[in-house]
Amino acid sequence: MKSLITGAAGQVGQDLASVLLQHGDVVVATDLHGKPSGISEAAGLSWSELDVCDSEATKRKIAEVSPDRVFHLAAILSARGEAEPKLTYEVNQSGLYHTLEACRVAKVGQLFLASTIAVYGPNLKTPVPENVELCPTTMYGVTKASGEMLGQYYRLRYGLDFRSIRLPGLISPVVPGGGSSDYALYMYLDSIKHGHYCCYCRPETRIPFMYMPDAVRAIVEFASAKSSLLSRSVYNIAAFSPTAREIAESVKTEIPGASITFDVDEQRQSILDSWPRELDDSAARADWGWKPEFDLDTMSSDLVAMLRTRVATSK
Ligand SMILES: NC(=O)c1ccc[n+]([C@@H]2O[C@H](COP(=O)([O-])OP(=O)(O)OC[C@H]3O[C@@H](n4cnc5c(N)ncnc54)[C@H](O)[C@@H]3O)[C@@H](O)[C@H]2O)c1
Repeated sequence: MKSLITGAAGQVGQDLASVLLQHGDVVVATDLHGKPSGISEAAGLSWSELDVCDSEATKRKIAEVSPDRVFHLAAILSARGEAEPKLTYEVNQSGLYHTLEACRVAKVGQLFLASTIAVYGPNLKTPVPENVELCPTTMYGVTKASGEMLGQYYRLRYGLDFRSIRLPGLISPVVPGGGSSDYALYMYLDSIKHGHYCCYCRPETRIPFMYMPDAVRAIVEFASAKSSLLSRSVYNIAAFSPTAREIAESVKTEIPGASITFDVDEQRQSILDSWPRELDDSAARADWGWKPEFDLDTMSSDLVAMLRTRVATSK
């Protein structure tokens, strides 16, 4: 398999590239500025620059690489999306359109879109299944919801094997790129670095989260699942849905003495309040065997060990 990733330098892309390489794929990783510093060279992995807002460059790159599948991760996330709605529309909406068009012209078999729980709107009865009305209240959610529809249109109209997962908030040692769920990682990271973190949401805020190794495994398993197993092209996946206070407690178990306080940023809080508290992922479990390995506490223990090493080596 030859896989091309857009937005590969981000939090998800760096881990996805490694997992695809472990699966034996040849991986062409693309992002605005090519390979980020600090990423090691690996056999089977190449990096190049690609701005998905540039339709001609996207067409050229995808035609030149001729991948079997494209993992489309390039995006502006929720918090930055509210600060820069025009850029978010251009990257998330037009960037996806250019990538779908490039796949159509180059006859790429499959495109995976990283979607999000932000496609849902507020006040839904939990756990939320896939087939509810989508009423997102952020530019990020709006562009991802319409992106899912655009992908499904390419599936119907041109036979592209379009697949997408509505990912929960993801936690990994990589510094996140401007999402509203970033507080979770910073509770761990700042507790290790400074012994303290002041969280921007209310302690009782509850949203679905997942540890990155589970998320990238889900993406690869889903992309590789036989089409005959799939009853839909867009799935929820879920792992755990802790409150911010429960995450803080888990952090303190791993990092004794850590102090976590709360000082609400109303704009970020309103984004978090518009998302579901829990997702129904029964379709993914039944159709392609999705099952998470990490819960909050097993994640905390693995993550803290990794962050301690990173912080120590960066000093
Ligand atoms: N991280 C999460 O918690 C989370 C949750 C749900 C869904 N997702 C989705 O997963 C995908 C990856 O998210 P992430 O956490 O790695 O985000 P990130 O912000 O860390 O990475 C996104 C990458 O996209 C790149 N990018 C931005 N504009 C671009 C452009 N015009 N052309 C090409 N690349 C561009 C950025 O340089 C960045 O490396 C996104 O589509 C996001 O919506 C992430």
